[in-house]
Amino acid sequence: MLLTLAIETSCDETAVALFDAEGKKLIKHLVSSQVNLHSPFGGVVPELSAREHTKNITPLLETLFRETPYSWKDLNFVSFTLTPGLILSLVVGVGVAKSVAHSLGIPLVPVHHLEGHIYSVFLSQRVEYPFIALIVSGGHTELYLVKEFGRYQLLGKTLDDSVGEAFDKVARLLGFPYPGGPHIDKLAQLGKPSIKFPHPKVSGKYNFSFSGLKTAVLNFIKRNPDYPKEDIAASFQKTVADILLDKTERALRDLKISRLVVVGGVAANSELRRRFKELEKKNIEIFFPKMEFTSDNAAMIAYAGSLRFERGRYAPLDINALPNYPLEKFGLDWT
Ligand code: KG4
Ligand code: ZN
Repeated sequence: MLLTLAIETSCDETAVALFDAEGKKLIKHLVSSQVNLHSPFGGVVPELSAREHTKNITPLLETLFRETPYSWKDLNFVSFTLTPGLILSLVVGVGVAKSVAHSLGIPLVPVHHLEGHIYSVFLSQRVEYPFIALIVSGGHTELYLVKEFGRYQLLGKTLDDSVGEAFDKVARLLGFPYPGGPHIDKLAQLGKPSIKFPHPKVSGKYNFSFSGLKTAVLNFIKRNPDYPKEDIAASFQKTVADILLDKTERALRDLKISRLVVVGGVAANSELRRRFKELEKKNIEIFFPKMEFTSDNAAMIAYAGSLRFERGRYAPLDINALPNYPLEKFGLDWT
């Protein structure tokens, strides 16, 4: 076996994992969420997030090793999230990853956070190439053509809010705390999609936009303060699904691709899963990660790290975290 330790601290989850890179088998992963810390502020506060990572990462690593039969000396390489994310948060994980690799004299393997999300699906099933990946999270809404590991082509992205942000903002309008996506999901199950919210006009064939929808919901609530909240939630959620499906189906059709993976925090949404599953009737194979791996975790970073390690793509010890770096440029040749 080839043992990798994976570390993810790009946003508000401190996450670690032990993964057998040879057998592609997850041994254990742990996530320490900071949701309760940030909730009163209505979003993630970068400084607080970084301090919390610093506090939590060592105890989390101790627990990981205590609860598995492995020790530091069994590690063959370290995988870690290099980019993108909150810079103060990223540097905590990058610093720990570098220290571990340096002290044990083992390779350091950088992973792009979005690549991690794409490969979260592979933790439970393999997907043949090429496929299209729709990434829907708090920070991202992007559509990629994945030709093979390390070869990604950006097809479209949001021009304003991410879909997760739209869920969180609409949830706030309906009186729910951050993060609001799961609340909207639950509430919408009790309602009917009785309101027709407009679809945005967006430049670019496969681009998205969600800020107009959020404003439309806000205006509707102002004009109709007594309208049932569950119907507003169901209507908003249906519109989001319609918009995502429209662009994604168009890309699948134009590029003649028959496999789709939908990943990221919003891929936990029940309506989105139901609607995308319907694509199977059109002979599209559709893949979601297990619920456990939709939101940020280190298991997905370990999986992507194992593929990068196989290709001998290591990072030098003076590598530094990057707040942004395009996935398609990250490719295979960047180190
Ligand atoms: O991937 P993620 O955990 O973090 C980022 O990398 O951004 O995504 C978090 C986002 C939040 O906006 C949260 O409200 C949303 O995912 N989310 C959901 C659901 N569960 C989480 N949105 C809609 N329905 C859900 N069930
Ligand atoms: Zn993420």
